[in-house]
Amino acid sequence: MQPLITITDIGRKYVIGSETIHAIKSVTLTINKGEFVALMGPSGSGKSTLMNILGCLDTPTKGEYILNGIQVSQMTDSELAEVRNKEIGFVFQTFNLLPRSSAQDNVALPLVYAGVAKKERDERAATALTNVGLANRLHHKPNELSGGQRQRVAVARALINNPSIILADEPTGNLDTKTSIEIMGLIEEIHAKGNTIILVTHEEDIAQHAHRIVRMRDGLVEDDYQNQDIKTVAEKV
Ligand SMILES: Nc1ncnc2c1ncn2[C@@H]1O[C@H](COP(=O)(O)OP(=O)(O)OP(=O)(O)O)[C@@H](O)[C@H]1O
Ligand SMILES: [Mg+2]
Repeated sequence: MQPLITITDIGRKYVIGSETIHAIKSVTLTINKGEFVALMGPSGSGKSTLMNILGCLDTPTKGEYILNGIQVSQMTDSELAEVRNKEIGFVFQTFNLLPRSSAQDNVALPLVYAGVAKKERDERAATALTNVGLANRLHHKPNELSGGQRQRVAVARALINNPSIILADEPTGNLDTKTSIEIMGLIEEIHAKGNTIILVTHEEDIAQHAHRIVRMRDGLVEDDYQNQDIKTVAEKV
């Protein structure tokens, strides 16, 4: 099987004045299509930096990234934008929703970039929100929704383009246990459809949903193993 993601000796440093911060020192990883990976590690270990590189939102300062057989460093800006739009769905800890737009408009936004007509955008956004249990919240703005509902809007937005890769950076970080389990249930469904999931979490409980656990420390991969004790939401309820 051809790997979906291959990164080799990736590094990312930041130069601030006379100081150089090595957010990622050297990371080599292969992730196959359909894997469900939890990325763990202490605060500041480089998890978000790595996720941003994997999602083509940031470029490494050294190393090689091959996504779906193509060298990311050789992609043009428009190819990169296309990959981000079509292949990758992001879920962030802080939701990153547009505050003045309704749930439906937030979810439809990636379709604006993809050039989909308004009527189809609205229909698809309504369906996506229905799929995350928010059929009766289409016209609510983010501040009219609970934290869990906002995160479900963010998940619906991440899925609207049927991306094959979902990158979720602490999607349950701001949620209570019950809502976290709901969101993990959604993520498991997406995984079961054959999509690849990479999820950053601080919580061992949440990481137990993943099939593989990668632990980072100080910009390096400290541990990388198959999870022998996978828990699913269905088992818990
Ligand atoms: N734009 C930036 N400029 C300078 N340093 C940065 C920048 N972004 C991140 N860093 C530094 O890089 C290191 C890794 O940051 P990163 O956000 O990847 O950590 P993290 O593992 O996601 O942590 P957390 O669990 O707290 O979210 C940190 O020491 C951070 O201070
Ligand atoms: Mg982070």
